[in-house]
Amino acid sequence: MKVTVVGAGGNVGATVAFTLAERDFAKEVVMVDIERKEGDKTFYPSKGRALDQWQTAPISGFDTRLTGTVDYEDTKNSDVCVITAGVPRRPGMSRDDLLEINGNIVKTVTEQLVKYSPDTIIIVVSNPLDVMTYVAHAASNLDSKKVMGMAGILDTARYRAFLAEELDVSPKDIQALLMGGHGDTMVPLPRYTTVSGIPVTQLIDDEKLNAIVERTKGGGGEIVGLMGTSAWYAPGAAAAQMVEAIMLDQNRIFPCAAYCNGEFGIKDLFIGVPVKLGHGGIKEIIEVDLDDGEKELLRASENAVRSTLEDFKKLMDK
Ligand code: NAI
Ligand code: 2OP
Repeated sequence: MKVTVVGAGGNVGATVAFTLAERDFAKEVVMVDIERKEGDKTFYPSKGRALDQWQTAPISGFDTRLTGTVDYEDTKNSDVCVITAGVPRRPGMSRDDLLEINGNIVKTVTEQLVKYSPDTIIIVVSNPLDVMTYVAHAASNLDSKKVMGMAGILDTARYRAFLAEELDVSPKDIQALLMGGHGDTMVPLPRYTTVSGIPVTQLIDDEKLNAIVERTKGGGGEIVGLMGTSAWYAPGAAAAQMVEAIMLDQNRIFPCAAYCNGEFGIKDLFIGVPVKLGHGGIKEIIEVDLDDGEKELLRASENAVRSTLEDFKKLMDK
């Protein structure tokens, strides 16, 4: 089993690769990035990161072979490719500010990946996530079940972590669902949140729960404000969890950016919805019941993603 991670000289990509290596189920993880010139020097971040990570194998005890490259030929016959290439958010930048730069990067990277791995599965991480997933799908010509975006697992993890802290319980016991786009309009769903099966609404008052929902929506920005760049540990772990579910055919149920063609009344758009992930990619989109308030929030999130997609299409037509 072979996994390629593009943008792996950077923070999220390197974390995806390292998390996968430590889980030790893949034969090979190929780390791709561009070369970086500084004066008369040329640096190869993906090669450096791969070498450093591979040298932990004897200490941590994994066999997954990590290699770094700038040449897509080395990615040939990858089962899964993760795209983290692009520019991250800086303070004051919205995810949508990244639209044009990352759109061009994701398109080019996808074309290179499918050239060498025409049957691969693609997981997009680059922002603005839902639109970049759309771009990768369009550029790949792959079945929509094989192209998806990582955001919901991360956003749900933030929501679960905040709840665990507030309730003083293990984060492992908190199950939750969150839908919509990866942005301020994301829709955490308290009605689908439990602590070992106990509805969370029985354990926390509305005011505290609403505060946690709002903190979750701004969870990415909170970290940008603290670090001056965006998060990587939780995003990297989340993308690796998707790779694992696919490669080990786990049939895990996660919120992922998936292509909706009528599901939840959403047409021709990638957006966060609950899916079953296993061999072949997305096996099913699970159409959970939503009440009127939840439907309204999802519609607002759909409109926000669609409007970013329209902006992107206009930029490309210029
Ligand atoms: P980073 O700057 O640390 O890494 C990005 C890497 O992409 C760099 O090493 C850069 O050289 C590389 N790159 C740029 N153009 C490339 C190309 N044409 N081909 C190959 N590699 C290329 O950024 P970081 O923090 O790793 O974030 C990566 C992306 O992930 C950003 O767009 C960020 O907004 C997004 N992100 C998305 C999350 C999500 O939940 N979906 C969460 C966190 C970050
Ligand atoms: C995050 O949510 C910025 O999308 C990035 O951390």
